[in-house]
Amino acid sequence: MAKITYIEHNGTEHVIEVASGLTVMEGARDNGIPGIDADCGGACACSTCHAYVHPDWVDRLPAIEDMEADMLDFAYATDPKRSRLTCQLKVTDALDGLIVQMPEKQI
Ligand code: FES
Repeated sequence: MAKITYIEHNGTEHVIEVASGLTVMEGARDNGIPGIDADCGGACACSTCHAYVHPDWVDRLPAIEDMEADMLDFAYATDPKRSRLTCQLKVTDALDGLIVQMPEKQI
C-alpha cells in the first residue's frame, strides 16, 4: 500500500491509498482521477497515462525500460527527466509518498 498524490494540471490534488500490485495508472483510473486516460489499459501501447514524477522521486523509481522509453516518444510535452508512463510503475510500499503531476493533455 502506498499513499500517492496525483496533481491535475490545474493544481487540484488527489491523495489516494493505492494497493501494492496495482500500477500508478490503475490507482488513478480506479479512483476516477482526471488527467490519466490510459486508453490501452496498461499495455504500454498508447502513452496516454503519461505523468511527471516529482523531482524528489525521479531517482527512487525503477529505471525506464526500452518499451516505455519508445512509447514516451509519443506522449505530449514530455520532460526528459521527469516523464513516466504510469502504467509501468508498479505500486509497492516503497512508493509511499510518491507525487505525480499530470500534463496539460494526453496526446
Ligand atoms: S495505459 Fe497505455 S501506455 Fe500506459
